[in-house]
Amino acid sequence: MRRMVYLDNAATTFPKPGEVYEFMNSFYQTCGASPGRAGHAMTLETEEVVFQTRQMLCEMFNGVDPERLTFSYNATDSLNIIIDGMLSEGDHVITSCLEHNSVLRPLYHKEKDGIIEVTYVPFDRSGYIDPKAIKSSIRGNTKMVILNHASNVLGTVQPAAEVGKLCREAGIYFALDASQTAGIIRIDIQEMNIDLLAFTGHKSLLGPTGIGGSYVAENVPIRATRFGGTGVRSAQRTHLDEFPYRLEYGTLNTLGVAGLNAAQKWIRSRGMLELHRQEMRLWSMLKEGLSAIEGVSLLCADAPENHTAVLSFTINRWKSGDVGTILSAHYRIACRTGLQCAPLVHERIGTDKAGGAVRFSLGPFNTEEDISKAVEAVRKIAALEKR
Ligand SMILES: Cc1ncc(COP(=O)(O)O)c(C=O)c1O
Repeated sequence: MRRMVYLDNAATTFPKPGEVYEFMNSFYQTCGASPGRAGHAMTLETEEVVFQTRQMLCEMFNGVDPERLTFSYNATDSLNIIIDGMLSEGDHVITSCLEHNSVLRPLYHKEKDGIIEVTYVPFDRSGYIDPKAIKSSIRGNTKMVILNHASNVLGTVQPAAEVGKLCREAGIYFALDASQTAGIIRIDIQEMNIDLLAFTGHKSLLGPTGIGGSYVAENVPIRATRFGGTGVRSAQRTHLDEFPYRLEYGTLNTLGVAGLNAAQKWIRSRGMLELHRQEMRLWSMLKEGLSAIEGVSLLCADAPENHTAVLSFTINRWKSGDVGTILSAHYRIACRTGLQCAPLVHERIGTDKAGGAVRFSLGPFNTEEDISKAVEAVRKIAALEKR
């Protein structure tokens, strides 16, 4: 089968570094025991891998205590844990129109049930929220701001440090959805005043699916909302309060953690900023190529300095889904079309009526040849419409 040109890395990165596959395979064949459940040598080895991974991720995000770095299934899982564990009846939350459904839907359910009130701050024409809009939305009952660090549709990286600072000054909690940035954009929990960080393992962290997590800073009063086995102090009736147990329940996805472990080592060896620079070089090539095509409109691609390697676009009168089908069937190019789980982004830009947009998103293994093929394919599709 002809190789696909894979430009759907914002959904999940593919391929992963060879070291990730190799380590997962050897780990699961040699020391895949359940950590923290027994004192035998195999659990201790697994525990060592789990702890080392907590440490490396904590270091990457400049957290303080690796035990506060907890694992879950993915960002959606952690965002639900954060939203359920932080919000109570009568609270007000501020979020943005850039959010993914993994934030919008948990909030919407609480809003619909009359538990919380939500303010959605808009983004400007370039795809950035204005911290002043967040500040002016703060009320007496505002508990938390929850913000997407980088839009999965537009690729725009939001001014998290400014938002963190204003939240700290106002005495409200700041939660950051780092699904699109963890592993590729610098995140500094301490400097950016991030109280709660949610990440997913299978995007730029280059691990497998089914693993994600959060970091919760000290003195953040998050409640456990899921309870179960922790492997320690089994006689205690209630779920354990201390970290990491407070937010971890049941047997960990140790295979997923092992994948993240190998991926962390790979990212460190390459350098995260270098990987981002490499992706953005290809992104600029892609931008230049697509913007020269008549009928193609790029969404919010003006500021490469605050951007991930995501580029969304529409082609005059084409439904994005049809473009995606042709790209896949005729050109063997994988992309993402439609609303990309971020309906408010498309509503605000007006692309919802045309069935959303086509999204190309790059990863560390894309090449100049991939970009040339993608530009050429879009050029041919855009020309088809004139017939
Ligand atoms: C911005 C953003 N938040 C949250 C998620 C959810 O991630 P996951 O599906 O891994 O839970 C995604 C995934 O596309 C995303 O792009």
